[in-house]
Amino acid sequence: MTQAKKGLDGVSIGDSRLSLVNGTEGKLIYAGYKIEDLAANALYEEVVYLLWNGRLPNAAELEELRAALAVQGAVPAEVLQQMKSYPKSANPMAVLRTSTSALAFYDPDSEDTSIEAQKRKALRMTGQVTTLTAAWYRIRQGLEPISPRKDLNLSQNFMYMLTGTEPESTAVDAINAYMVLLTEHSMNASTFTSRVTTSTGADMHSAIVAAIGTLKGPAHGGANEEAMRMFMEIAEVANVEPWFNENIKSGKRRIMGIGHRVYKALDPRAAVLRERAAALSKASGNTKWFEIADQLANLARADQYFIERNLYPNVDYFSAIVLYTLNLDVDMFTPLFAMSRMAGWTAHIIEQQTDNRLIRPTADYVGPMDLQWVPLNQRR
Ligand code: ACO
Repeated sequence: MTQAKKGLDGVSIGDSRLSLVNGTEGKLIYAGYKIEDLAANALYEEVVYLLWNGRLPNAAELEELRAALAVQGAVPAEVLQQMKSYPKSANPMAVLRTSTSALAFYDPDSEDTSIEAQKRKALRMTGQVTTLTAAWYRIRQGLEPISPRKDLNLSQNFMYMLTGTEPESTAVDAINAYMVLLTEHSMNASTFTSRVTTSTGADMHSAIVAAIGTLKGPAHGGANEEAMRMFMEIAEVANVEPWFNENIKSGKRRIMGIGHRVYKALDPRAAVLRERAAALSKASGNTKWFEIADQLANLARADQYFIERNLYPNVDYFSAIVLYTLNLDVDMFTPLFAMSRMAGWTAHIIEQQTDNRLIRPTADYVGPMDLQWVPLNQRR
């Protein structure tokens, strides 16, 4: 039996119409459109429509989707009530995982896995996960959560549900671009997880909860938080080089937000986010965090170890600076990633279901054989 490379490196699990990741050239395409064009021009909802329908919406279709996401993004009062009983110190990704699971109890379609029901849940849950992310930010501070407003789009609603005030355009624009860039990325670990769960015939809430759990890890979506904590540890621009020599040159640690399984060139999302991070930092009057991140990336780019291994900043590196500059709590960065990825996960779940076969690989057993059974009272 052929054995795949460790970590399923380079294994294709099948066809997908959703996105193309070209790792050698550093290109990313969503259903035919370049990520740079989408990040510069698209409303998040346009990209959601593209992934769910394979084409961009016209004005009426876009408005219908925007309004539906805003209305159906409301979270049942029972789930918000449960969240108020969670420990205030709980990790926001753990809260998102648990509260997303709880949504299923109150979803009329939760156990219906017909394609029609899956599409209804994709819409509802994409709105609701954004609401849950904002709700926990408030609940853990002892504030009342806020419901989405019917007249706003998702990025506006996210900022509104955090602050309760009229969303400010610079922040909304940055969140919208961030969400567009993070929406979809082919067969990454969390998307693969969602497809494995779906392949067993399990429901959409189960598949999304599994994906959220997978995204949480620092080798995947959790890297944005770890990157920011690393920049905070460095603390000053003057410390970048000594920190690099002490922690990275010595081989003790990895630079979080650098390296990627598929990209062996610059992640195109990182290029867009670097520009965003630079502009937002300048506008905020505090460029320190951007400068630390940029100088560290430049040191890595000039270092033989990173050159030989084709290690470049990935999506999480400069997104940490974007989100921090928008005053978001560091431990909320990964939930923001999750809410942005909802459209991609749900599109993959439906794609998997449309042409399903159980995903069930094998492993080569290398353990002992033919051991003699020893009764419990004779074991040492
Ligand atoms: N810093 C220093 N060295 C690194 C880094 C890094 N960030 N990333 C990889 N390397 C080195 C490894 O030590 C290894 O060196 P070796 O060949 O001498 O053993 C080589 O580069 C290849 O690394 P692997 O771990 O084998 O690469 P893999 O494809 O398995 O892992 C991963 C990719 C997990 C992203 C890795 O680059 C990493 O840990 N990066 C930091 C965490 C991170 O940013 N994760 C987010 C990824 S993007 C996303 O999921 C949204």
